[in-house]
Amino acid sequence: MNDMEAVLKKHPRAGRDALIPILQEVQESQGYLSREAVTRISKHLNLPAAKIYGVATFYNQFRFQPKGKYHFTVCRGTACHVKGSNRVLEMAQKMLKLKPGQTSRDRLFSLETVACMGACGLSPVMNLNGEFYAKVTPQKLVKIIQECRETESKNGH
Ligand code: FES
Repeated sequence: MNDMEAVLKKHPRAGRDALIPILQEVQESQGYLSREAVTRISKHLNLPAAKIYGVATFYNQFRFQPKGKYHFTVCRGTACHVKGSNRVLEMAQKMLKLKPGQTSRDRLFSLETVACMGACGLSPVMNLNGEFYAKVTPQKLVKIIQECRETESKNGH
């Protein structure tokens, strides 16, 4: 049985209220919500796929594309916002040419925002592939992205 079926099996005869937990568990196990996954969930819950997309896009914790090799998460919680996280996010969007939730075509970069990373004392914070960066500025971010690009060009991309 694949991960997807294992998740659905935990929610037998589930109704609409199981939608968010199911989406969370599927995303947890697969990294994102593929079109196939949404179709399967739609069948299981007897809910139209369009409805599921509608609900899932409302909560911006869900992604519909696999993560990139370099996955950036920018915190936009209150503490980080006060310290200028929106400027960091704007710079990330500009440099990566991505909106939160998107992955670049070459699958190298992806961007996401979260409501709080639990490190408010270090705000604004950002995370790249699980590594935390404290007190990030747009300039610091530019350097980090440039380093990723340099690593890739050395790898022959
Ligand atoms: S608000 Fe950003 S870490 Fe808490």
